[in-house]
Order: sequence, then structure tokens, then C-alpha cells
Amino acid sequence: MLVIHSAAGFATALDDARLRGLSVGVVPTMGALHAGHLSLVERACAESDFVAVTIFVNPMQFNDEADLSAYPRDLDSDIEMLSSIGQGVVDVVFAPEVPDLYPDHPRPPSTTVHVDGLTDALEGKFRPGHFDGVATVVAKLFALSGRCRAFFGEKDFQQVAVVRKLARDLCLPVEVVACSTVRESDGLAMSSRNARLSPEARSHATVLHRALTAGRRAVSEGEDRPGEVREIMQQIVLDEPGVELDYAEVVDHFELSTPDRICGEVRLLIAARLREVRLIDNVAASAPATTGTTSHSTTSHSTTRKSKT
Ligand code: PAF
Repeated sequence: MLVIHSAAGFATALDDARLRGLSVGVVPTMGALHAGHLSLVERACAESDFVAVTIFVNPMQFNDEADLSAYPRDLDSDIEMLSSIGQGVVDVVFAPEVPDLYPDHPRPPSTTVHVDGLTDALEGKFRPGHFDGVATVVAKLFALSGRCRAFFGEKDFQQVAVVRKLARDLCLPVEVVACSTVRESDGLAMSSRNARLSPEARSHATVLHRALTAGRRAVSEGEDRPGEVREIMQQIVLDEPGVELDYAEVVDHFELSTPDRICGEVRLLIAARLREVRLIDNVAASAPATTGTTSHSTTSHSTTRKSKT
């Protein structure tokens, strides 16, 4: 496993792999790797010949200085974790410094990427500028990566929609692959932020998944009013001590807008704060099939990894 710090070195390594006829899989991360990230890496490895993991804590996507400085960073242990997956499974780790991706640093970048529409609501409302930071850094990573498939976790559902849209709008030769959320045994979605929860906050953190599960049950039992489903989720969070709800929402899969009535498949999303730690989560929910109801299912990708050479 090669650890590369320079942007040019990363682009060359991926070009070389393609010249050797290998398909390339890229897993963008901010480090502090956990089992959720490893599941993305494992999927990338199963479906690509050559796999690169990027590790970069992107300052531009943090709208809060304190959150940026508290973000856990331990490159050595991340590299060790990636090596432990198996010899030669991850080919490249790209771990740039800030000036490698933001050449004008510490001046703000002149060129940024803004994905209109999808970024206004939900996380966009609570974290102004966050998605401009995500879109800008992901556009840079995609530009350096070249033709590849990029693997993202569905826990950040809005991020996946934004990244997919930017790849399409900027004609970048990247297929965005959404991977299922990995959960602890009590339902808490894996996140680098979980490590910052106090033992007490950790015990309350399961409320996000409990609220989503109750919302999903209501939808599957025929509740088709988004406001009612929202209310069910909100009440469960309000009853939990030490948890402040930012939002509980019902949205369609593609535009992330709230439907007038629920039919087919929708996404339930939630965000809450446990003291200074902010957590997000989401699940799919399906209305019971009725005559005339259209069911929108997400596309599944199946490709097979060629043997490494
Ligand atoms: O999901 C993340 O870890 C980050 O938002 C990403 C996609 C790596 C961009 O910095």
C-alpha cells in the first residue's frame, strides 16, 4: 500500500493503474476510520481492480472552527487499519496537506463548487456553506482521480445526492456508488463523531434510530401524511433527555423534497445534537403497495472485480 501526499502523485498513480487496464475504485474519507468506512473499502475492493482511499479533513466543509479542531485525526492508525484489511487490498492512500488541495491557502479559494437546490434544506439549513465545502473538495478529488467509481456511505444521504449531481453537472467521469449504513448492534449509525459522545450521551444516541424505525413502521402501515410521520419521529426525540432535535423529515429520494402524500419509497432523515456532538441518520421507508402505486426502487450496481495483476 502506497501512501501518497502530493496531488500530482495521486493522479499519476491512478492514471498508471488505468493504463495497466485496471478499473479504479476511490473511497473519499476524512480519516478517523471505523467499520463503516471499512465496509466502503471492502465494497470498493470487491468491485474494482485498484483501490485508493483518500484521507483529508477538509477545512472548507466545517462551518464551525471548534468542530474542525475537535475532528479526530490519526493518520498512522488509519493506515494501520487499512493495512489490516489484507495485504495489497488497498493500493493507494492519498493523504494530502491543506495546501496540496487548496493552493492559495490560507487565502480562501477563488474557485468553489455550489450545487444549487439540493443543498438548501436539511443539513444545508443547519450548516451554512457545508455543502459548498464538500462539493468543492469532492470535485477536486474527482478531477485528480479521473475515470473511476467512487464509494460513499448512505448515512450522509444528502451528501450522496449532492455528489452525484455535481459529477453529472460537471461531466466528471465518476460513477457515484451509495453503500448501506453500517450500524452498532443497538442501531446507532457508525460515525467518526460517535467517539466524542460521553458514555451518557452514547446511551441516548440510539434515539435517532428508534425515531426513524418508528417513522418507517408508520409509513409501512399506511400513514401517508408526511406531517404525521414527522410528528411521530419528533415526539420520540423530544421524550429523550439530553437530545436536541434539529430536524426529522420525510423526503423523496432524488430531489430531497417533501412529497404531499407518501407513496412508493421515501427517505426519512433525522439530525440531533447531544451536547456538542451532532449526529445524523436516515432510513428508507416504503408505503404498502396498492393498485396504481408506483414503487421507485434505487438502482443497484453489480460489477465483478477482476483479479489483480
Ligand atoms: O463524508 C466525508 O467523509 C466527507 O464529507 C468527504 C466526502 C470525504 C468530503 O470531505
